[in-house]
Amino acid sequence: MRVMHVDASPKRVGSTSKLLSAYFIAQLQKGMTDLEVDYIDTSIQTPPHLTHDFIEAMYTPATLRSRAMQATLSYSDNLCARLLMSDMLVFAMPMYNFSMPSSFKALIDNLVRPDLTFCINKDGSTSGKLTHQRMLFITTRGADFRVGISPWSNMDALTPALKSSFSFMGGDAPIFVDVQPLDNHNPIERHEVLAQAYLKLDAIALQWIANSRYVLPA
Ligand SMILES: Cc1cc2nc3c(=O)[nH]c(=O)nc-3n(C[C@H](O)[C@H](O)[C@H](O)COP(=O)(O)O)c2cc1C
Repeated sequence: MRVMHVDASPKRVGSTSKLLSAYFIAQLQKGMTDLEVDYIDTSIQTPPHLTHDFIEAMYTPATLRSRAMQATLSYSDNLCARLLMSDMLVFAMPMYNFSMPSSFKALIDNLVRPDLTFCINKDGSTSGKLTHQRMLFITTRGADFRVGISPWSNMDALTPALKSSFSFMGGDAPIFVDVQPLDNHNPIERHEVLAQAYLKLDAIALQWIANSRYVLPA
């Protein structure tokens, strides 16, 4: 089994999202001894931003691309291949200004590729290729954006953007562990929020481990 594990917090120390994603991977490793982890910290290995040349190359049919176009797309090609060969995807990030850190947006921009991660059908509809990957998003937020609880829930531009991008690529059952509010000055409440997150991650890890062992009866 192979997991792509992406962190997007730029914090070198003290990142809650990095702490939680590392915990989740460690839980998976307890039950999947053969687990291969493909790790990216987008704040360090920041994917390139899209350019004019990239867009031209992307929309040129693969067989007609020049060497220069192939070189322009090589990072994105490789990233898409790594994504598609993964069985599980774990993406962890803080909310930044109501949305995602820009390095994670750059990752998405390199992943949404016609003919690689989605295809355009004859009738103009699209089909995503991420059909078998289990997908977990761990998001950390300073404030509280929970629907029905927080008056700010309609300002959450992070969850809808992640859902849309990855469902366009075929991920129709993403799991979200949104950890909030974390920048709470009451340490007991913060502790409780984190305790709930760990419990959720434990349950998801157990589920993924159980599913990885399930073999269809003959
Ligand atoms: C530049 C910046 C922008 C932020 N924007 C938001 C925001 O829009 N909403 C929010 O609830 N928290 C915001 N926060 C707080 C972080 O989301 C929160 O502290 C989170 O737990 C950090 O996760 P990390 O420790 O993994 O980096 C922001 C923090 C920073 C540094």
